[in-house]
Parts: sequence; structure tokens; C-alpha cells
Amino acid sequence: MTAGGAPITVIGSANLDYIVRVPTAPGPGETVLAGAMRKSPGGKGANQAVAAARLGGRVRFVGCVGDDDDGALLLRELRAEGVDSAEVEVITGEHTGLAIVAVEDSGENSIVVVPGANFALTATRVTRVVRRRAGGGLVVLQAEVQPRIIAAAAAAAHESGSRFVLNLAPFVELDADVLATCDPLVVNESEAAAITGRPVTSVGSAHEAARQLLERARSVVITLGARGAVWADAEGAGLVPAPAVGRVVDTTGAGDAFVGALTVRLAQGADLRSAVELGVRAGTYAVARDGAQSSYAMSGELVDVAT
Ligand code: ADP
Ligand code: NA
Repeated sequence: MTAGGAPITVIGSANLDYIVRVPTAPGPGETVLAGAMRKSPGGKGANQAVAAARLGGRVRFVGCVGDDDDGALLLRELRAEGVDSAEVEVITGEHTGLAIVAVEDSGENSIVVVPGANFALTATRVTRVVRRRAGGGLVVLQAEVQPRIIAAAAAAAHESGSRFVLNLAPFVELDADVLATCDPLVVNESEAAAITGRPVTSVGSAHEAARQLLERARSVVITLGARGAVWADAEGAGLVPAPAVGRVVDTTGAGDAFVGALTVRLAQGADLRSAVELGVRAGTYAVARDGAQSSYAMSGELVDVAT
């Protein structure tokens, strides 16, 4: 894969993940014992930034950490990955965002996020950074930030002539004008169902949801776990099936691996179908390995696909 391409500005959360392995996640009123706890850098924003940087993207991360050891660790990790972290603000007196990630033996996970410093990211700063630095590139965002940040990033991306990629995870209600700037809007099955108001449980219903969402966004991608992903844009629509995985080890951050890879390909000028092909490979690579960022592919580890 060739390095570089247009600059990628990833805005969003940086968390320290506290990962516990459990036979099955606790239901209401239940307590389960985990064997051990492991800390690992995470947060959808930082995950996507690292996923893109490992595949050769020119990546800047915009976010906030606390003035604690966890924050210092996250900053060190971002720099080590080659992510430009000059726009990561250290918030005095706040704790760094954290996530309790319970990974079941099946590889499925349940997550509790405590945003902490992540919620100190302001619309003013996002607008300033995007206007000054994102010009002509991609602006990438998820929904682990305050909702007004999404609107600010979308507007600033539009003004600066940047392509706005929104991964609406977790689902939040959006104004129609924000949705209209998404190119693409990237959602999983449950987020697609939340927006369209209809269950998305099959490839057929995902195609139908993508068709509906294409009336509201510039382009659409719906990820379907083991089934891959469907895409739709002005050129057409299609399914990119996921390659078979021997054993699913840990699905944490697979969606972020997908988005990071997708943006690298788009930054290189590829079309949406080809970007989704790389996204699917990156997501599948990540589920076959432990952790979120620790499971992401480096350049050369994903068999390159023709555009
Ligand atoms: P999210 O984690 O955001 O819900 P998905 O579960 O749809 O996202 O996964 C994103 C991508 O990761 C999929 O498009 C696919 O490429 C890959 N993936 C996820 N789960 C599996 C799986 N069980 N087997 C193979 N690939 C998977
Ligand atoms: Na993984």
C-alpha cells in the first residue's frame, strides 16, 4: 500500500480501556468474576487515528485527555504510532476518559464508557482546527463526543472543502443538514436500525436501509459484522463480504479498524467500494486478534486490493 494521500483529521475520544475477560457478560442484577484486567489504549477517535496511521495515512488526532498518568500514556502511544498529537489538549483537573470493556469468551464485548476529559472538547476548538488544518483532506468523527461537536465539525469541514466522514457510533439523533454532509455516513446494523426505524438483520435489509439513508447522506456504509459491509453512493451500491475468520478472538474496535482503513483509502482518492474493501479486510484482521489498537494491521499485513 502506498503511504500518504490527503491529510486525515480524526476528531474524537481517547480512552484508556480496562479490559476484562469473562465467560459471559453480567445481565441485570448479576455479578461475574473476571480472571484478570489489562489496560490498553482505546476510544473510538484514537482507535480510528491509529488504524489509519498504521496503514500509512497522514493522521492528526484532535481530542482531550486528563492531566493524569492515563492521559500521558495515551499521548505517548499516539506519538509512537506516528499520529500528530499537537492538537490533543490536556485538561487540568479532569480524568482521562476510560472504558470498562468486558470481553466474553465468544469474542463479543460489552462496554461502559466514562467520558471524563473527552467532554471538554469544545465546538470552538474543533471549528478552529478544522478550518486551519483540515483543508482539502478528510475530517473523521464518531459520536462519543458531545452532539454539538458533530454539527461544528460538519460545518467546518464543509467550509474548508474537506470530506466529512461520520461514524455515528454510538447512535445519536442528528439534524438533517449534518446528515446531508456525511460522505460517507458509516454505521453498524443497530445504528442503521436506529436511524431508519426498521430492523437491519440481513444483507437484504441492509441494502434497503442504505438506499433509504442515501436520500439523506451523500454516501452510506453499513457494516454487518461477519457478513462484511454494504455501501451506497451516487455510483451505485454493493456488498463486500468479509473473509472467513478461523476464530473470532475479540471484536473490540473492529468498527474503528474498518473506519480507519476506509479513510486511508478515500484519502488516496479511491472510490467508496474500494475503500470499503480495505475497511472490511482491516475489520476482519482485527477480530482475529486480541484488543482494539493492539489488533490493528500494519501496512503490508492486509493484502492490497485493486481499485
Ligand atoms: P461494530 O464493531 O462497529 O459493530 P461490525 O461488527 O459491523 O462493527 O464490524 C466491522 C467490520 O469488522 C465488519 O465489516 C467486518 O469486516 C469485520 N468483522 C466484525 N465481526 C466479524 C466477524 N465475526 N468475522 C469476520 N469479520 C468481522
Ligand atoms: Na480485536
